[in-house]
Amino acid sequence: MIEISVDIVDEKLSSEAAALVETLVHDQVASKITAQDATLWGADAESEAAIRLGWVNLHETSRPLLAEIDALRADLHAEGVDRVVLAGMGGSSLAPEVITATAGVPLVVLDTTDPGQVADALAGDLSRTVIVVSSKSGGTVETDSHRRIFEKAFSANGIDAASRIVVVTDPGSPLQQLAEEAGYRKVFLADPHIGGRYSALTAFGLVPSGLAGADIATLLDEAAAASSLLSVDEPGNPGLVLGAALGVRHSEGAEKVVFADNDSGIKGFPDWVEQLIAESTGKHGTGLLPVATEGVDAPGFANAGQDATATAVGAPTGAALIGTSGSLGGLLLLWEYATAVAGRLLGINPFDQPDVEAAKKAARALLDKPPGSDAGAAPSLVDGPVEVYGIGGGSLTEVLRSFVDSVPEFGYISVQAYLDRLDDASAAVLRPELARRTGLQTTFGWGPRFLHSTGQYHKGGHQNGAFLQITGAVEDDLEVPGRPYTLGVLQHAQALGDGQVLAEHGRPVLRLHLTDRAAGLAHLVKAVQEVERP
Ligand code: PA5
Repeated sequence: MIEISVDIVDEKLSSEAAALVETLVHDQVASKITAQDATLWGADAESEAAIRLGWVNLHETSRPLLAEIDALRADLHAEGVDRVVLAGMGGSSLAPEVITATAGVPLVVLDTTDPGQVADALAGDLSRTVIVVSSKSGGTVETDSHRRIFEKAFSANGIDAASRIVVVTDPGSPLQQLAEEAGYRKVFLADPHIGGRYSALTAFGLVPSGLAGADIATLLDEAAAASSLLSVDEPGNPGLVLGAALGVRHSEGAEKVVFADNDSGIKGFPDWVEQLIAESTGKHGTGLLPVATEGVDAPGFANAGQDATATAVGAPTGAALIGTSGSLGGLLLLWEYATAVAGRLLGINPFDQPDVEAAKKAARALLDKPPGSDAGAAPSLVDGPVEVYGIGGGSLTEVLRSFVDSVPEFGYISVQAYLDRLDDASAAVLRPELARRTGLQTTFGWGPRFLHSTGQYHKGGHQNGAFLQITGAVEDDLEVPGRPYTLGVLQHAQALGDGQVLAEHGRPVLRLHLTDRAAGLAHLVKAVQEVERP
């Protein structure tokens, strides 16, 4: 059985990519990646690459984890604990979300600071709940907050909290120390030679997925089968073909890679791959902007212009120039190789994420200094349940028109919703609505989740984005035990902080605050429907 394939529909692109693949084969790029040769991305990247290539053989090195995860799951089930909550940001939760959704097993993912969404997770049956606290660095503020909140809730419900907390982290992190001191149920130490976005097949991907009941042994088998195709210096190597095609397209001005699922059977793959691509390539004013769309007929995909490469997850169809098919384990590894290859072609270090780290540093500062609110800053306009900050105008529609007009040709719009992605799910309709009405590539991210993903590209990549932030009123806030702030204050500060950084990069930022979330979203969608870009 063929585990993975890359199909390029366009003949010109196919032959240009093939020519580039010849060079990659000559330079032995595939076998060198597999041999963890850190010199492939230039001298500046060498020291980082030397400690970031452990992902190439995880289908072998992660095998011993399987028995440990199975044993823990069996023990937990014997105690009646079968509800798995995962606290983790970016690379510490995106892969398990795709793996469990594809397997059809439940996993409650917490990668939010929205008090309502966290409260809903807390309202589940705690007597049956185990929380996996996943953080490579062990210092990510969102994840630390979730750990504190669940620890307190377990205790308040008469449950031995330590027995319900499982940790995944890198050796030597503050979280390892804390977990050992507190006697948490189990600590899985991950390979520190693998970055967050390449960690799908490490303990970060496998522990929560396996505890939730996904078939993680098969996932490793799939990756093993794909590895035999991806590691060889041959013209048919799908990782080289895909990386070369993305490199060729970028050199022709296609800075965006637009994704749609075409009956692949894999649920939410674009949400995982967008972090891999955006964080790996979006730096030094260059890179590839991933755009996840709703389907092959969605605006942005169906009418992808010269600045975008429509790429199907599954067989290519409709506007797709490229299709990538195969098993989930195979596709994870395929895109990791292809991104590493594209990074070499773009001349960047695909293994660092300087702007994510800067954002995290700013967030950590909040641990010591409670963030203020923007109570002093008056909105430039109040239009019904929507307060407008950043751009003036006589009505919300006028403001949105000015915002859209600020986007340069071949620029993009980024909608960033600091809301509850379950209860406020309707906000996601803003992406296709704006894309349809403006003809601009438009991305959508839930804050602060996207800060650990596409956030790197916004600040480090091509500087032609315009940013629409949406924040919302908080009805019932949640204390973060032991910290001088609530989740709601933290969520608000994350939006303001990132908005400030984007503005410092000279990018247009419009913030809309919904004083009533449901009514505000309905009002906003109506206003967007009155916006057209000539
Ligand atoms: O790729 C990265 O390094 C980041 O997106 C991280 O995955 C994310 O910020 C979570 O970091 P950590 O696992 O240290 O909590």
